[in-house]
Amino acid sequence: MTAKLTGTAALVTGASSGIGAATARRLAEHGACVALVARRRDRLEALAAQIDKAGGTALAVEADITDRTQAEAAVQQAVERFGRLDTLVNNAGLMLLGPVVGADTQEWDRMIAVNVQGLLYTTRAALPHLLQAAEEGPRRVADIVNISSIAGRVASNGYGVYSFTKFGVNGFTESLRQEVTQRHVRVGVLEPGGVATELGSHNKPEVRNQMIDPFYQQTEVLAPEDIADGVAYMVTRPRHTAIGELWIMPTEQL
Ligand SMILES: NC(=O)c1ccc[n+]([C@@H]2O[C@H](COP(=O)([O-])OP(=O)(O)OC[C@H]3O[C@@H](n4cnc5c(N)ncnc54)[C@H](OP(=O)(O)O)[C@@H]3O)[C@@H](O)[C@H]2O)c1
Repeated sequence: MTAKLTGTAALVTGASSGIGAATARRLAEHGACVALVARRRDRLEALAAQIDKAGGTALAVEADITDRTQAEAAVQQAVERFGRLDTLVNNAGLMLLGPVVGADTQEWDRMIAVNVQGLLYTTRAALPHLLQAAEEGPRRVADIVNISSIAGRVASNGYGVYSFTKFGVNGFTESLRQEVTQRHVRVGVLEPGGVATELGSHNKPEVRNQMIDPFYQQTEVLAPEDIADGVAYMVTRPRHTAIGELWIMPTEQL
């Protein structure tokens, strides 16, 4: 694999499992130093050790990105360790499904906190470093990739507030793109369809039984590595090319 990201540093939120872990591995294979951000330190340290063993460089950063101070400290730790930040992958997320009628508002709060507030805090903290990397860095370009969802484009029954957060991510991405692309910070959104990860496991048992397990049993799903390939494709484009939006769907779902 050509090391197009050699000399750059990336931060991936939600790197302790699923799409985030696969993306961190893939960016390290492309030569980036990678800061792994999530709450489960043991998992981050295990992944950092794997990446190091494979010849890459990774830093485990335990942080709850719903806390603004922790999100800022995570970005700061990455910049202190690697001296720079060229790529931000806003991947951490929570999907709690179910009807709006009689909904558990604490579930709404938790989703909004991670999918929206956490993404905003991390982005705000990272932007000055990304702008600097775009001006002075080895590639003279920097990237933000926001992992949204096909549920951020198409609404489905039961996806209510999850969809709300992901539609929000899409709108924010487009707005920020207009603000900073001319300064060579590319801001793109990647919208996966179903991917085999732990994402559904945080739901109440009745939701898992009625919505999530049948979906995984009946439908073809993607692997986290399929999404990691998409992120790598976006951030390894030459400086004059920006990918604004990328859908990745299992063939059966398109
Ligand atoms: N799987 C799918 O079918 C699918 C489809 C479309 C889009 N997506 C999106 O893809 C992204 C990744 O999801 P996934 O499928 O890989 O699910 P996952 O395996 O459950 O990963 C979610 C990640 O988010 C992290 N996270 C959650 N709350 C956090 C917090 N407060 N602070 C820091 N990190 C936090 C988790 O780490 P800790 O628990 O260690 O903090 C975990 O690493 C999400 O944004 C999701 O919406 C997934």
